[in-house]
Amino acid sequence: MADTTVMEKLVSLCKRRGFVFQSSEIYGGLGSVWDYGPLGVELKKNVKDRWWRAMVHARDDIEGLDAAILMHPRVWEASGHVAGFTDPLVDCKQCKNRFRGDDPRIKGTPGEPDAQCPVCGTRGSLTAPRLFNLMFKTFMGPVEEQAAVVYLRPETAQGIYVNYQNVLNASRQKVPFGIAQIGKAFRNEITPGNFIFRTREFEQMEMQFFVAPETAGEWFERWREWRMQWHKDLGLTPARLQWHQHGPTELAHYAKAAFDIQYEFPFGWQEIEGIHNRGDYDLTRHQEYSGKKLDYFDQAANRRYVPFIVETSAGADRVALTTLVDAYREETVEGETRVVLGFHPGIAPIKAAVLPLVKKDGMPEVADRLYHDLRAAFPCFYDDSGAIGRRYRRMDEAGTPFCVTVDGETLKDGQVTVRDRDSMQQVRVAQAQVGAYIRERIG
Ligand code: GAP
Repeated sequence: MADTTVMEKLVSLCKRRGFVFQSSEIYGGLGSVWDYGPLGVELKKNVKDRWWRAMVHARDDIEGLDAAILMHPRVWEASGHVAGFTDPLVDCKQCKNRFRGDDPRIKGTPGEPDAQCPVCGTRGSLTAPRLFNLMFKTFMGPVEEQAAVVYLRPETAQGIYVNYQNVLNASRQKVPFGIAQIGKAFRNEITPGNFIFRTREFEQMEMQFFVAPETAGEWFERWREWRMQWHKDLGLTPARLQWHQHGPTELAHYAKAAFDIQYEFPFGWQEIEGIHNRGDYDLTRHQEYSGKKLDYFDQAANRRYVPFIVETSAGADRVALTTLVDAYREETVEGETRVVLGFHPGIAPIKAAVLPLVKKDGMPEVADRLYHDLRAAFPCFYDDSGAIGRRYRRMDEAGTPFCVTVDGETLKDGQVTVRDRDSMQQVRVAQAQVGAYIRERIG
């Protein structure tokens, strides 16, 4: 199967089954902005919940935070984003398309006569690269003037840095400790694309770990290991995950060292999470720009220092896409194609479907009772329309790990058939035990 075909099929499945829709579709759509439908919102929520459990609930050295999207404009001067969060932008004077200056499809040097537009093919029509800031600007209050400019945050991290002392004081944590946050971020990307991979509005799951300067290297290595393991525990194929170390020219303005966790998408190896050693860059800059002391007094060692920060930064949408790509498979079963989203049961949007074999002989009543019982424990779906084989296929495509069928025998022996999505094996389970049986397997 050609790689692009997989993405096309996945995008179509996502729309058809209600995972992801194009934003404002009835108006022709808005470029690279997407909405999550009933199944997609559950999938992304499950990804975020697993991250929150692993990063906040399972640890006693990390606190949660939910900072506002809009922040004081000086934050973005201090962070370096006003001056440095830019991409080189190139325009084609002929076809009016815009490209990143480092777009590999551009032949020649933009601004020179030899440069060729990758879309219309015209030579000499590309402008020399100029720096384009990726932050979205808006105005606070009723007056649209320079003094009222605020930005939509391009990363959630800064909300954590400016609250570092609030959290430290309120929680009584001691360095080393971390602050975790999940929230929206916005970037006016020049070349967004690949479905929900690179968008202009997205969600980040970020954690900033504050450490003594001389221990930053060790913590960086620990966090690299923990974060890679988290992606493996999500059920992603280990052979499709790899590390990419940033070379000196790739490092962000704040980073002393950086590694990306990459996944092998149908469109190539791409970053899904970055682990950064940000040194004392952020707190030092915020100290300087705010005039407030942000150093830490280590009582045990009787010394004062500005903590170093080890950051783990993953995109919730990107991880959701990764789980979709990794889960997608087609199989031939009895001469027919079976499309399956083989999600890890823990992130599957629906955990079980309850299906009466036929719509008569008391089966719908039993199935309906069972459905309501199970629904109290985990997300379930009730389906009584169409042949049972078709109903199974619909659930395979939605990634539902278990189908529970109520048949004629159920009314006699009190047992139901539980079908496993992946093996398609069916087992008989006592009706009263089905909830426990599924709970045990969804983790
Ligand atoms: N605070 C550090 C930071 O923002 P980044 O490498 O620019 O680092 C971190 O972004 C993660 O956020 C990426 O690994 C990716 O998962 C996600 N991300 C960044 N830009 C994105 C975009 N335009 N669309 C979707 N996700 C994006």
